[in-house]
Amino acid sequence: MRGIRIIGTGMYVPDTVASNDWLSTILDTNDEWIYSRTGIRERRISTDKPNFYMAEQASLAAVKNSGIDPSEIDLVLAATCSPDFFYPALSCLVQHTVGAVNAAAFDINSACTGFINALDTASRFLEDSDYRNILIVASERLAPHCDYTDRSASILFGDGAGAAVVTKNNKPMWSYLNAKGDYFNALYCKVDQSRSNCPLLKEDTVPEGLIDSEAKTHTLQMNGKAVYKFAVDAMQTAVTKVLEKSGLTKEDIDLYIPHQANARIIESAVKGLGLPEEKVYVNLEKRGNTSSACIPTCLAELGEAGRLKDGMKICLVGFGAGLTSGAIVFEQ
Ligand code: UT7
Repeated sequence: MRGIRIIGTGMYVPDTVASNDWLSTILDTNDEWIYSRTGIRERRISTDKPNFYMAEQASLAAVKNSGIDPSEIDLVLAATCSPDFFYPALSCLVQHTVGAVNAAAFDINSACTGFINALDTASRFLEDSDYRNILIVASERLAPHCDYTDRSASILFGDGAGAAVVTKNNKPMWSYLNAKGDYFNALYCKVDQSRSNCPLLKEDTVPEGLIDSEAKTHTLQMNGKAVYKFAVDAMQTAVTKVLEKSGLTKEDIDLYIPHQANARIIESAVKGLGLPEEKVYVNLEKRGNTSSACIPTCLAELGEAGRLKDGMKICLVGFGAGLTSGAIVFEQ
């Protein structure tokens, strides 16, 4: 597939820090439990700004860092599972704010795997001569979806956005994408349809037994154990498959960026694959799990630190609601 080169990265995290100690004031939990089970010490929460604001800030930074004029962007792809609007797409709001006046725009929702699916999509668009520069942004405001009486899920998630401007590269890229829809009810957030005043509508249209009938609408529902087990297997499978496709060995890769869900998931997958730990980038201690935004915020931190060098071989791997998973290897 068409190689990509990242020419600019950007990120935005809200100012409000929600530490484990703060969570302990509203939930029956403590820093020791959360840190030892997840590797997370704190996460950011967007108390007063919508998701699109975070997406716009990350995108403006990425476009500025890329050095291109916004009018040279041909496509804006936004990955999110926590949009402010059902429609229009988040990417349309971003397209307007960054001034990407010549760009098409659409969203991708594969939850935490969103950035990987978007990067794969970008590569395929870049095959076409009409598309030269693509802005990809992943942004999540998950706090409004979390139930802060549920100590097993709410402690994991944080808010934030990461963005990257990518352009064509003659160097290679490979991807492996997967979905296991039979696990859809391991992690979901159900829309509230009871607001309609159409007298013909029945209140609940989801067949009995498909999801927990008591599940609160607009609230993240997670079977933590099922997702954990899936994640460790799926990350290993995705990396193995993408390396097989590429003909590269795990030692050939300079940098691995996994989805930042839980340090223990990352450690188990890294151990199972036999990856060198020093090549694996982890930032979840201070960010928590920001879903699709995890991987691009890692890229932005690395970009900011001058650690994204030309010629580096980078492997991104993630999983999320769906359940979806995927990995990409590209040479920067
Ligand atoms: O992007 C994808 C998003 N989702 C994930 O990646 C989720 C993957 N799953 C996980 O990360 C883990 O399963 C959790 C962090 C959600 C839970 O960790 P766990 O080690 O699987 O804990 P558990 O559910 O087995 O619970 C063990 C105990 C239980 O108490 P009992 O029944 O043994 O008395 C829980 O009630 O820990 C209790 N517990 C807590 N205790 C203190 C659960 N959450 C907490 C908490 N503080 N926050």
